[in-house]
Amino acid sequence: MAAVVLIGAQWGDEGKGKITDFLAESADMVVRYQGGNNAGHTVVAHGREFKLHLIPSGILYPEKTCVIGNGVVVDPAVLLEELAYLTERQVETGKLLISSNAQVIMPYHRLLDGLEEEARGESKIGTTKRGIGPCYMDKAARIGIRVSDLLDPEEFEPKLRRNFQEKNILLTKVFNAKPLEFQPIYEEYLKYGEQLRPLVTDSSLAISQTLQAGQKVLFEGAQGTLLDLDHGTYPYVTSSHPIAGGACVGAGVGPTRINRVVGVAKAYTTRVGEGPFPTELLDETGEQIRAKGHEFGTTTGRARRCGWFDAVIARYAVRVSGISDFAITKLDVLTGLEHVKICVGYRAGDEVLYEFPQSQKLFRKCEPVYEELPGWSEDLSSVRRFEDLPINAQNYIKRLEQLTEVPVTLVAVGPSREQTIVRGKIFED
Ligand code: GDP
Ligand code: IMO
Ligand code: MG
Repeated sequence: MAAVVLIGAQWGDEGKGKITDFLAESADMVVRYQGGNNAGHTVVAHGREFKLHLIPSGILYPEKTCVIGNGVVVDPAVLLEELAYLTERQVETGKLLISSNAQVIMPYHRLLDGLEEEARGESKIGTTKRGIGPCYMDKAARIGIRVSDLLDPEEFEPKLRRNFQEKNILLTKVFNAKPLEFQPIYEEYLKYGEQLRPLVTDSSLAISQTLQAGQKVLFEGAQGTLLDLDHGTYPYVTSSHPIAGGACVGAGVGPTRINRVVGVAKAYTTRVGEGPFPTELLDETGEQIRAKGHEFGTTTGRARRCGWFDAVIARYAVRVSGISDFAITKLDVLTGLEHVKICVGYRAGDEVLYEFPQSQKLFRKCEPVYEELPGWSEDLSSVRRFEDLPINAQNYIKRLEQLTEVPVTLVAVGPSREQTIVRGKIFED
């Protein structure tokens, strides 16, 4: 039995898709446990690039079962489009399962996401406007529509009517927008239900049976630690739990079943959307990293903000998720810099902090305290063994291990599956 949780250790876009695809080779099942199509994962396999939003990044292996867990918010139109996108590219999607308890993103969620952002004005969050926040709001308010409801008109109709009453008041009276019409949406979503019916299952049971049979399960987090609703840079966060604990709730698996937690982090840091970011580089070096790392969002196309690696954040991610192994991605992007910097603490007034502060007011005031290491100029993209990396690149990784007290088991030096340096096993035999 082996269960591994893979999470983003920063603000998302760490390369989780690539590392999931890499580790999926050793797994039997890959499970998404939170978030929705706010996620955008680029996976490059056999020289082909795939962009995934909702479907687990294990889907490129036809023999692996992929699961969309109960903690995910599902936009059915997006899911069907993604299935069609994969089919067009000759990817078999026959082994995809969806939890009957996953929440459904409805048109009013998408509308409200946009209207709420507009109303926030200067203090906007910079959401992806995919309806994620409003959908999770309804889940917590216990009025959400679940995937199982789409399969049962008797359940769906009264639930949707109740939502329509409330949402149309919100749309017209609070946001001065047009009301939505019940019937076309009701019929459209029943159709989606029929299309998705063969995939819908009790996913917690399917996962448990897989583990009981001695098979390997990989739980794939979306977003990242600092976007976690409780543990992130609130309110500049998403509305779910990307940390490792989220896998237990969002997949229906107990914490004692989890063997390891892989934290994926870039060799530097990026962030999309608003919110504090102490190591952000607003200079030429930031531009250089953005250009070389192609740091533009997979979902919204927005330019990602870039900065140095932040070891305070990495240690915080280790704490809240119990990270046992790091996968450091995009080391190749730092090639050509004379020096590389690592943030080892924060200066806040007269104090230097070594722990991520609880107070966001304090975090906003934090200035990074840097350690500078010599850079390297060699191209890393074809390196496959740690010993073959330039010594300064090796030392950079070793310093990250010292600062986080966690081994860096995987190092990525390019977007492709094979551009991965392996220093140890993640899945037990
Ligand atoms: P995710 O959301 O965490 O899956 O990350 P994204 O897919 O949004 O962003 C990571 C980007 O970096 C993608 O375009 C990947 O193809 C790419 N990538 C991943 N690992 C590496 C790497 O080691 N080197 C380079 N150059 N690109 C990488
Ligand atoms: P992956 O899985 C990076 C950010 C948005 C915004 C905040 C809230 O590709 O790493 P939301 O639409 O979730 O309500 O937006 O969270 N965000 C992400 N940033 N990567 C992601 O996913 C993200 N998903 C949401 O930019 O700041
Ligand atoms: Mg992404």
